[in-house]
Amino acid sequence: MKLWGGRFSKSTDAAVDDFNSSIRFDSRMYKQDIKGSQAHAKMLGKQGIIPQADAELIIKTLDEILADIEDGKVEFTIDAEDIHMNIETILISRIGDVGKRLHTGRSRNDQVALDNKLYLRDESEELKAMLEDLQKTILTLAEENLNTIMPGYTHLQKAQPITFAHHIMAYYEMFSRDLSRLSDWRTRMNIMPLGSGALAGTTYPLDRPFVAELLGFDGITQNSIDGVSDRDFICEFAFVLSMIMVHLSRFSEEIILWSSNEFGFVTLDDAYSTGSSIMPQKKNPDIAELARGKSGRVFGSLMGLLTMLKGLPLAYNKDMQEDKEQIFDALDTVKMCLPVFGGMLATMKINKDAMLIGAKGGFTNATDVADYLVKKGLPFRDAHAVVGRMVAYCLDTNKVIDALSMDEFKEFSKLFDEDIYTAISLETCVNLRKIPGGPATETMKAVIDGYKNK
Ligand code: ARG
Repeated sequence: MKLWGGRFSKSTDAAVDDFNSSIRFDSRMYKQDIKGSQAHAKMLGKQGIIPQADAELIIKTLDEILADIEDGKVEFTIDAEDIHMNIETILISRIGDVGKRLHTGRSRNDQVALDNKLYLRDESEELKAMLEDLQKTILTLAEENLNTIMPGYTHLQKAQPITFAHHIMAYYEMFSRDLSRLSDWRTRMNIMPLGSGALAGTTYPLDRPFVAELLGFDGITQNSIDGVSDRDFICEFAFVLSMIMVHLSRFSEEIILWSSNEFGFVTLDDAYSTGSSIMPQKKNPDIAELARGKSGRVFGSLMGLLTMLKGLPLAYNKDMQEDKEQIFDALDTVKMCLPVFGGMLATMKINKDAMLIGAKGGFTNATDVADYLVKKGLPFRDAHAVVGRMVAYCLDTNKVIDALSMDEFKEFSKLFDEDIYTAISLETCVNLRKIPGGPATETMKAVIDGYKNK
């Protein structure tokens, strides 16, 4: 019989059991479910709501069940519906009536809210570690490429010279924001819902702050209806995951471009690329493509969660069981992408020559020619016009600005002098941009050192 079978005269249809059950996907929360139950039992004993000895036996037996699950000795059943009732059923099968006292003053509605929070909190720690690992990889790569000049782009048109370090450290910043979003998320999420009951709290004198403390929460929820129906923290988590995927996807797109024959800025390691079954010469950036492609399913989870919630009346509705597959898939996807993406970055070869050649084309130092004239007294708008004419001349004559003779320079402005050649070398262009946030080697080195000593 079901734990809730009392008022029913028929058992559920097999198709209904299958449809209704969540054990297939919520069994992964077994540890959190057990920890939550142990804290609840401890509190029930302390408050004299159940005998102290019963509380102790429940806690001890739950420890044994946990060990058995981890040893693969436990089989969950669809019949027991979800992880909460599976564990409770096993508990009762082991210690009978004592086990039946565990659910005093609790509902699966506050239990599942608790488990969701505990589970995502644990997972967020792993996610954090993965993001930090990826950042370390970026930092190392940046340090090795403080002087690697490459073209910076806007509109995917060559714009101004930067360094590879400067470019990839932009991603470091993005992942820092993801980490900070994770800790903001945690502050809002880390409030304990147990004691909310089904929706209206309970008449038992539960010590909610005690349970919160045992489980590492920063406080207790202040409205039992909200306590059981809040899934904001799952949507927010899905957004954090989505943003991580946006960052990985943009980075992937660049790696795909850079590894193309047209760019040739990087060469992916053989261990991180794949071949074609027909074209013998092919080496494809599948890892980056998959990371880019998988972003879609993570955004889909966010959309699925928001849509699942938006029309729900308060408080708990079974629709909410759908939160799990969405957030778990999003989480699994991100956790799968991060380490393999890091491995791809760490092993790819940086083709410094190709990057430099790239930076030499496309008039990336044109702004610096204008700035040269400004420093000699010409208003910026006039300087801009002069250099615009020079670029047109170079395009006509198939030259680069650096290769113009002094006479040619003078044709465009008398303000040009011999020092123009060093003033517009790519090294100067990069290294005069010492402004905080800029690409100059010394500036980026200071930023990197700062992050390393964090
Ligand atoms: N498996 C359910 C879920 O994931 C647990 C809560 C069920 N509560 C209920 N009253 N049926 O949401």
